[in-house]
Amino acid sequence: MSDEIRIGVIGVGQIGVRHLEKYKQVPGARVVAVSDLREDHAQRIAGQFNVPDVYPDYEEMLARDDIDAVDVCLHNRLHCEATIDVLESGKHCYCEKPMSWTYAESKKMYDAAERTGKKLHIQLARIYEADSRAAKRIIDDGHLGDIYFAKTVNYRRRGRPFVDGYGSPAFVNVKTSGGGAMLDMAVYHIALMLYLMDNPELETVSGATYQMLENLDRDRALESGYNVEELGMAYVRLAGGISLIVEEAWAIHAEDPAQEQVMGSRGGLQVNPLIYYATLSDLEMDATVNAERGIWRWQQTNPCAYYYSETQRHWVGALLGEVPLIDTAGIALNTALITEGIYLSSHLGREVTRKEIENAEPGQGREHDANID
Ligand SMILES: NC(=O)c1ccc[n+]([C@@H]2O[C@H](COP(=O)([O-])OP(=O)(O)OC[C@H]3O[C@@H](n4cnc5c(N)ncnc54)[C@H](O)[C@@H]3O)[C@@H](O)[C@H]2O)c1
Repeated sequence: MSDEIRIGVIGVGQIGVRHLEKYKQVPGARVVAVSDLREDHAQRIAGQFNVPDVYPDYEEMLARDDIDAVDVCLHNRLHCEATIDVLESGKHCYCEKPMSWTYAESKKMYDAAERTGKKLHIQLARIYEADSRAAKRIIDDGHLGDIYFAKTVNYRRRGRPFVDGYGSPAFVNVKTSGGGAMLDMAVYHIALMLYLMDNPELETVSGATYQMLENLDRDRALESGYNVEELGMAYVRLAGGISLIVEEAWAIHAEDPAQEQVMGSRGGLQVNPLIYYATLSDLEMDATVNAERGIWRWQQTNPCAYYYSETQRHWVGALLGEVPLIDTAGIALNTALITEGIYLSSHLGREVTRKEIENAEPGQGREHDANID
């Protein structure tokens, strides 16, 4: 097993640059090439990070046989094709979230990894946070008993990318993003819930998506062609009789309830901040948990714990053979099934089954008319 992983990055826009910063800090990771259609920009970024080679056409980079892994940092609707090209070139692939804009494309990516025998890793940053890791340990140790209910509710007050001032127009136009708050933010939170519960299979989804807020910054909405949902919600039935509630808003006239909860027969958890709810000596107990201190100690006693502390570190650790790769591709695929189900259910106005989602024409119910006078 090599002690250095040679990496190429496709797309050095906002997140690609952040990945380069992260790789600089991970022992054993070495970025040897980047690719971006904007060659001058890519040359500048390569210079900044001492990356020797730049390719406007990523296929030329993939033709090299001295690259182990490639990181796809393109916008959502380009993830599938690039990821499959990477895997078929014989390289391991890291892909940004969402896995893809549709379930069908996500499945093609997953199948390509199986077919080529190469590793596929999806960016699901939330699962490496201290509270999430501690929550997973508490659940795995059986302190929740039989899990039957999970809930993720996250609202931004006014945080539509670009329209409200943050991020690029690519996030809010269906042509580039394929969807709004569901694909940008809900995917993180749904994936965290699935990870904590060992990725139970989807049964049905009843969901709705909206773009309703008035008082848009008209110029920014028009400039970006803002046409995706700002709010999505769902009631999801999972195998084992588990109910999952999802609410995600980029913008809404309400306070953020910030709920990420998993409830079982013996105890319950609020993930962030981490609180454990149970009954102790016939008394209701709400116990705060100091996750940071536990994680620090785990890292002192087990050198491999470092490789669970962040997504890039985990990826490099798995490629170095230090730790098994968390099945982020399987979790992201199940997440994509749920988000596709939310869009489809909203479009049809009724609950949809797993089979219906799998067999539906991909990408239905994505476009919303911007609420502009
Ligand atoms: N920006 C963020 O804060 C953020 C955070 C987390 C995840 N992400 C995810 O990262 C992905 C990229 O987002 P971004 O904000 O970095 O986008 P971006 O528009 O800033 O960057 C995309 C880059 O890809 C390049 N590109 C496009 N087609 C290409 C091709 N065929 N070959 C090579 N390069 C090509 C573009 O020139 C651009 O530099 C999205 O899927 C997004 O969901 C972004």
